[in-house]
Amino acid sequence: MALFTQSILDEISSRVSLVKIVNSRVRLIKRGRNYLGLCPFHNEKTPSFTINEDRGFYYCFGCGAKGNVITFEMHARGLNFPEAVKSLAIEAGIKIPVQNSKDREQVKETKSLYDVMEKACDFFEKELYSLSGRYALEYLKQRGIDDKTISRFRIGFSPNKGSALKQALIRFGVSETLAIKTGLLIAPKVSAQGNRESSDFFRGRVMFPITDRRGRVIAFGGRIIKNGKPKYLNSPDTTLYHKGTVLYGMIQARESIVKAGTVIVCEGYTDVITLNLSGFDYAVASMGTAVTEQQIELLWQMAHEPIICLDGDVSGQQAAAKIINRVLPLLKPSFSLRFATLPVLEDPDSLIRSQGSIAMQRVLSSSVSLSKLLRYQELFSRSTNGTPEQLAAIKDDLIKKVNGITDRLVREKYRKDIFSRTISGEVLPILRPQAWRSQERQLLLLVINYQELFEIEDIAERLGNLKFDDSDLDKLRLEVLNHCGNCDNINPEDVYRYLRSCGFSQILDCIIKAEIQDLSIQLGPSPSIDHVREIWEDIFNQYHLKRVLEVELQQVVQQVADDLRVKNLDRSTKTLEYINAQLSAMTRNCNDV
Ligand code: UTP
Ligand code: MN
Repeated sequence: MALFTQSILDEISSRVSLVKIVNSRVRLIKRGRNYLGLCPFHNEKTPSFTINEDRGFYYCFGCGAKGNVITFEMHARGLNFPEAVKSLAIEAGIKIPVQNSKDREQVKETKSLYDVMEKACDFFEKELYSLSGRYALEYLKQRGIDDKTISRFRIGFSPNKGSALKQALIRFGVSETLAIKTGLLIAPKVSAQGNRESSDFFRGRVMFPITDRRGRVIAFGGRIIKNGKPKYLNSPDTTLYHKGTVLYGMIQARESIVKAGTVIVCEGYTDVITLNLSGFDYAVASMGTAVTEQQIELLWQMAHEPIICLDGDVSGQQAAAKIINRVLPLLKPSFSLRFATLPVLEDPDSLIRSQGSIAMQRVLSSSVSLSKLLRYQELFSRSTNGTPEQLAAIKDDLIKKVNGITDRLVREKYRKDIFSRTISGEVLPILRPQAWRSQERQLLLLVINYQELFEIEDIAERLGNLKFDDSDLDKLRLEVLNHCGNCDNINPEDVYRYLRSCGFSQILDCIIKAEIQDLSIQLGPSPSIDHVREIWEDIFNQYHLKRVLEVELQQVVQQVADDLRVKNLDRSTKTLEYINAQLSAMTRNCNDV
């Protein structure tokens, strides 16, 4: 809103000491006419960051960062230009004049809108800890959100009465008209029966305030506590708030983002909060929509390669496609995005709750670059019979996409990258075939403990026809078959004793330790032999299917290897999808390494 005249900018540059500003972050020493210190923008052990105080200019010989006091303020604190100017102006005691009377009035009203939002936020926060907010507070506690986090994110509660907030605002001296402009009150609808009263927009919801980059509350998201629709109600667009232009949690995350050098972008309010609770305090949320252009620009002011978290299902792929289309024209040297795919049906909140922060870390570390995702999407998202025309279409699509990159240098690099790559090395990491040792171990443990299994149908035969990947485990399999298949009515203790005497002690201890818990859960207390057999069959079938898939997989990889061997593309794509789905369905219940 504020425009800065050149004279204001000059005044800032001349009145604010660059050395003083930098010195508050890194220690500087004087070298001749310059100052020298460790660069605050990259990691280094020997100083290569120099300041020329006379010219008000800094330059880093290590990373090439350079600029004046305003750029320094922007990059060191993750501010945008107007914010940096304003903050420095305050520091220097310079008043930024407001242009004309109309502007002034606008500014005044806007100011009071912020004021109303702040009052409302405060009201909601207090309500959460009041009697009427008790069940909301309980709900938050149940989700593991503690008081510290509640206050950090200023989470609140909107009472379930028609006009609790309205009454409170009126008590604070806020006019109804102004309150309606904030979107917090619904304007009265003129009906046939005459005028109705305005009423609260949010009722009986847990309130998540959305702030702008300066931490001022500009909107709210309100979550219903029990089930109901909509799950989240969000403030409408107002003078203060425009959907898609802000990031939830940015103010809380900003410093950590600069420190971590990266930012996690997820979808929901609670994702940001749970990420925070488990140490990922550099997370923000796009609030349900695919990340917008404005959000990308915001992110880039804080980090070079924000990591976008995607749902593991089709909707995640669709969101990714949308984001790719948006970001290509914006790309510039050294700025990009990375994409991390969550397991199907999980969001960061649920993933961390069910599998801990390690699982989240794993998701983040397997994120892929934008250029890689672009190739994947083209390769795997469409089907083709492999005719030259269809192949040409794929190539054409990729070229079109790449041509959407506005920056010439980046575009050139993408062209080379996209067409010089082969996908052979890329197929395997997507599929990540698992070691299925857990099932092998369970199949063995069951027959050792329940000798009766050998009398049933063809269990011994089926076990005999397998071959385990792990050679020690395979030796154990053969020994078990050999020993148990040949005698009747041995009890498990004897089998164990015998196997231990054959040198299998260590591996036995190891597989018991790894599997006993899972197995006993599956078996339940004193299982009947029929039940044991069913479980054995289940495990065997899963295991067998996996072997079949693996052979398939190897064949497909072979076919896709080296380049886009057109003929196989359609079949490969379908098979890959199928195998992928099967494998991930099977992995879900498998706690294997
Ligand atoms: P989700 O439906 O995934 O909810 O929407 P969530 O964030 O996981 O919430 P919990 O864990 O069930 O409490 C993701 C985001 O999409 C927006 C919100 O910003 C939400 O956090 N959303 C979702 C809405 O705006 N309205 C809705 O009705 C649903
Ligand atoms: Mn959730």
